[in-house]
Amino acid sequence: MSSLPSHVHLIDHPLVQHKLTLMRRKDASTSSFRGLLNELSMLMAYEVTRDMPTQEIHIETPLEPMRAKVIDGKKLVFVSILRAGAGILDGMLSVVPGARVGHIGLYRDPQTLKPVEYYFKMPGEMRERDVILIDPMLATGNSAVAAVTRVKALVPKSIKFVCLLTCPEGIAAMQSAHPEVPIYTAAIDRQLNAHGYIVPGLGDAGDRIFGTQ
Ligand code: URA
Repeated sequence: MSSLPSHVHLIDHPLVQHKLTLMRRKDASTSSFRGLLNELSMLMAYEVTRDMPTQEIHIETPLEPMRAKVIDGKKLVFVSILRAGAGILDGMLSVVPGARVGHIGLYRDPQTLKPVEYYFKMPGEMRERDVILIDPMLATGNSAVAAVTRVKALVPKSIKFVCLLTCPEGIAAMQSAHPEVPIYTAAIDRQLNAHGYIVPGLGDAGDRIFGTQ
């Protein structure tokens, strides 16, 4: 992509790029792939929560009382798109342990090729919450678009989308359906291949996380 749309945030920190390169290698083992994704998820959580509101609370240091900032993690919901989103969830929760968690299960209908929902579970009071949708691969964009549409119907305060890898086709699909949703990604690869895989990519993220190849 020549110039990046303003709602796309490329997380190009050297640590993120280094770990992503190790994950892409076809000889990375399941356990190293999973471990690297976990570390990367913590680093991506750092970027995506950069503008989270803080509030001041009263504390006492060993020397004196003071007012100090904390984030309200309970207002945040990580929504994992099954099944590969699970690979990002633990890393994100380890840095924002107070966050709530929602899940959306979608599969692709072999006839229509449209995403079909088989699971949907969200915390209550969604109107008061900021949502971070997670899925390692934003490829055709079909599931991401469907997931955002479904979450939007609950009218949360905000929605962001975080992935590890995307491509121009995935960004275009999200831009056309949900132009106001910011996308955070560690890389934008060349294109989708005829089978809907991102190339050069890293293969099937779910298979690599769970060792189901
Ligand atoms: N899903 C994956 O797991 N990998 C891709 O390259 C595209 C979609």
